[in-house]
Amino acid sequence: MHDLLQLYPPPTTSLPLERLYLEHPLHRLVDDATALVYSNFITSLDGRIALPHPGQATHGVPAAIGNARDWRLYQELAAQSDLLVTSARYFRQYAAGEAQDTLPVGNDERFADLRAWRLDQGLNAQPDIAVFSASLDIPAVSLQAYRTRRVHVLTGNGADPARMDALRAQDVEVHSAGAGTNAEGGQAIRLLQNMGYRRIYVIAGPSVFYTLVRAGVLQRLYLTLAHRILGGEDFDSLTWGSELQPAPQPRLRSLFYDAYAPDDAGQLLACYDFPAAIGP
Ligand SMILES: NC(=O)c1ccc[n+]([C@@H]2O[C@H](COP(=O)([O-])OP(=O)(O)OC[C@H]3O[C@@H](n4cnc5c(N)ncnc54)[C@H](OP(=O)(O)O)[C@@H]3O)[C@@H](O)[C@H]2O)c1
Repeated sequence: MHDLLQLYPPPTTSLPLERLYLEHPLHRLVDDATALVYSNFITSLDGRIALPHPGQATHGVPAAIGNARDWRLYQELAAQSDLLVTSARYFRQYAAGEAQDTLPVGNDERFADLRAWRLDQGLNAQPDIAVFSASLDIPAVSLQAYRTRRVHVLTGNGADPARMDALRAQDVEVHSAGAGTNAEGGQAIRLLQNMGYRRIYVIAGPSVFYTLVRAGVLQRLYLTLAHRILGGEDFDSLTWGSELQPAPQPRLRSLFYDAYAPDDAGQLLACYDFPAAIGP
């Protein structure tokens, strides 16, 4: 496999892609009392993270930017987590047969080393799952693949009680973490932390990411910038929500250049740390 170039911090050095994020010190921010909340996205140069897919009802990661090298790093970040945060949209997309994949860590042979690594570290075979949902529209069929993991749903006090009961009847743990129908970011993360989760990997999309950034509880962002310009008028970008004021200022922690994907376009692999909580 081709090497990457480390651009920041200096000096510039060449290093392997495999294990790059596995050996990134995710533990640095974690102590016995605090959770590390981290996220990961791939975006085009014009800021698209998802576009409509031909013949599908839902958006997906554009084929022109998605690539196996980035996917490997996404899996390495998942391998280190004890909890994945996703959205009900993912479960609806899965039920419609339109999801990109099952939730990580992937069962693929390519990720066998990551599954073994988890066990060596004393982690569960797979991370548990937390689903953000206001509607509580989570098709039962899409939960079948995750019977061996704890599944939590984070919603608001005002969410439909009948749907809460129906989910609980399927062994889903439903938690209220907000005054309306939405979960609030700070309450949601406190709740997860109080349940003992310490490495919380956020792999939902723009609204969940926004919810956590706004509450000041996201601590680290891994961002792949694929060197392609996609256009399109109906797209998702990193965040969705009212303007953030003051605008958060994550600081660059590391930057790598990968010249080999997607195709030969190249991509930058950036990692940002957010300063201490800014408050909701
Ligand atoms: N390129 C990338 O790296 C990348 C990464 C992630 C996702 N994506 C793509 O981005 C697109 C959008 O993803 P997404 O729909 O999962 O993103 P999202 O905007 O984070 O999630 C949407 C759903 O999450 C629930 N939700 C969000 N915030 C909530 C809150 N505060 N409280 C309660 N529920 C909340 C709602 O579910 P209910 O409707 O059930 O209320 C909402 O419909 C997808 O096409 C996905 O493939 C791309």
